[in-house]
Amino acid sequence: MNKLAINGGKSIRKKSWPGWPIVGKEELELMSEVISSGVWSYNGPKEKEFIRKFRDYIGTKYAVCAANGTVTLQIALEALDIGYGDEVIVPGLTWQATASCCVDVNAMPVLVDVEEDSWCIDPVKIEEAITPKTKALIIVHLYGSNPKIDEIIKIAKENNLCLIEDAAHQYGTVINGKKPGSFGDIGSFSFQQSKGLTSGEGGALTTNKKDLAEKLDALRNCGRRVVSLNSNVKEEEKGKGYYKEEGNFIHSGNYRITEFQAAILLCQLQRLDGQLKKKDENATYLNKKLKEIDGIIPMRREKETQIQAYFNFAFRYEKKYFKNLHVSKFRKALSAELGLDIQPCYEPLNNCQFYRPLTKKRYNINPEYFKKINPLRFLLPVCENAFKNESITFHHSVLLAKKEDMNDILKAIVKIKENVDELL
Ligand SMILES: Cc1ncc(COP(=O)(O)O)c(C=O)c1O
Repeated sequence: MNKLAINGGKSIRKKSWPGWPIVGKEELELMSEVISSGVWSYNGPKEKEFIRKFRDYIGTKYAVCAANGTVTLQIALEALDIGYGDEVIVPGLTWQATASCCVDVNAMPVLVDVEEDSWCIDPVKIEEAITPKTKALIIVHLYGSNPKIDEIIKIAKENNLCLIEDAAHQYGTVINGKKPGSFGDIGSFSFQQSKGLTSGEGGALTTNKKDLAEKLDALRNCGRRVVSLNSNVKEEEKGKGYYKEEGNFIHSGNYRITEFQAAILLCQLQRLDGQLKKKDENATYLNKKLKEIDGIIPMRREKETQIQAYFNFAFRYEKKYFKNLHVSKFRKALSAELGLDIQPCYEPLNNCQFYRPLTKKRYNINPEYFKKINPLRFLLPVCENAFKNESITFHHSVLLAKKEDMNDILKAIVKIKENVDELL
């Protein structure tokens, strides 16, 4: 008789896993307050309160809210004056927004490979990719891993590159006392539903530089003058002026957030540290035990990391320890044992179904540019190996379960290993 759940056997996990997002009466109360207030658009009291708290949480001098974690990246590049003719170095393994923001400002994303133990951008590959046209570097704090931040800051400084951190995956990681989003020139965050801090949709930008903060605030708000950052702006001046750069008005669009989202974010932010602590305790336990299973490799955690945040929890699989069972079959078997959506990592951006810049007419500025943005020209062997052969990921909300629930994950892996013949 078959034992594996995927073949009709009894599954390891009988109970459901914690859902996401977590909501309480606080959200309902604040939402109802916003509805009654009639202040529904941007720069309301809830947004101002949230952005102050978020800025303090991340540890930067300034922050601004924006519509999502895609436009945040776009306006980060615009604020740094990056556009046509500029190259931007981007990791090959990330959500497509990290690269598509570059073509959205007519710059050229240069995809570079990642490190095999973290799936984060490889500093060695960054150095190899720098040319006289390179203007910026976008790094991603991916899943529950971080790039080698000190090395990257050094490279950026030595080569005079702007550093943007795409921290959409990580709220609250602490590395040497600092958080993602506070290391570079600009940090970019997403509050999309699946993220560790969420309002369904939304985003934010962080920076320590006042001039950048003011420009970001204008860029997210049709070029208007700053009112959200500077509470000293007199009431009568608000909305009158427009942000000026070297005496000129700037052009932009509406990338704002609403007061409803800000109300939700205020409540979610209050719960964040408690959730983070629990997730990191469970992840630390899980990683310790996963390491004991031959053929399973936990992701790298920097020794300087005091707290680790997770978007997806990820680990690596070596098929030779599972009688050469392909990772895709292993993932399906694990899903069936655990009642969980087990996914591979992101599809590498050199051939990703969500990143097809050549299908957009507006990117066809000239034949040379169009050729250069063809993602197929980049070689990303480590990204490809992670995607095709190694990667196992599941949503961070699983880490909110009890510590003993983590044992189900371990038991399921061992069960598949012991009964792997059923799958061959
Ligand atoms: C690494 C990364 N960057 C940027 C984004 C874009 O964020 P949003 O969905 O809010 O536009 C995401 C979303 O999944 C992401 O994972």
